[in-house]
Amino acid sequence: MQISQLSHPLVRHKLGLLRNKNISTQKFRQLVTELSIMLTYEASRHLPTEYQSISTWCGDTEIEAICGKKPTVVPVLRAGMGMLDGVLTLVPNARISVIGMYRNHKTFEPVIYFEKLVKALEQRMVYVIDPMLATGGTLIATIDTLKQHGAKQIAVLVLVASPEGLERLAKHHPDIQLFTASIDEHLDQNGYIVPGLGDAGDRLFGTQ
Ligand code: URA
Repeated sequence: MQISQLSHPLVRHKLGLLRNKNISTQKFRQLVTELSIMLTYEASRHLPTEYQSISTWCGDTEIEAICGKKPTVVPVLRAGMGMLDGVLTLVPNARISVIGMYRNHKTFEPVIYFEKLVKALEQRMVYVIDPMLATGGTLIATIDTLKQHGAKQIAVLVLVASPEGLERLAKHHPDIQLFTASIDEHLDQNGYIVPGLGDAGDRLFGTQ
């Protein structure tokens, strides 16, 4: 698995602001959007382009335009929704695919309760978004499903990753790319990333 940790000062600064537990829901959302824009900028670096002829004020010229099937974004519910605005700010024509899943309390197996994916997944760049890569269980199951439907080029965008989650994800899906703003210290006994952000879903939705 190819891991890219963004090292831009703006990323480090905004992540620091996000770690403060005393910021408002509105501020938290805004920072998540801004960081998601920067992750998307990095993750979209290799989108293919083609030359097109256009007319300008001083005659005809060739410009570059992103070509091929439009990318699809897959927000991992619920917290992944908080990154969607940021991704769509830079890639406004992206299609959105949704997989809703929960864990069976007894077997811990992921159970899909909703699935609506765009067609021709195999021809698209697929951006899976989730603020926190903790144990990696849901992300792994989400990517399993995407691959079963043909996805081939997958990039995962997270704000904070745990070393344990990275190791597990790399073992299951060595062929994907991962972009993160931070690799934190460890997971605690409750599955929270330390120092992390706390419960990112609750902070995004104001349900804490
Ligand atoms: N999910 C979160 O929102 N935070 C964590 O630290 C781990 C999982």
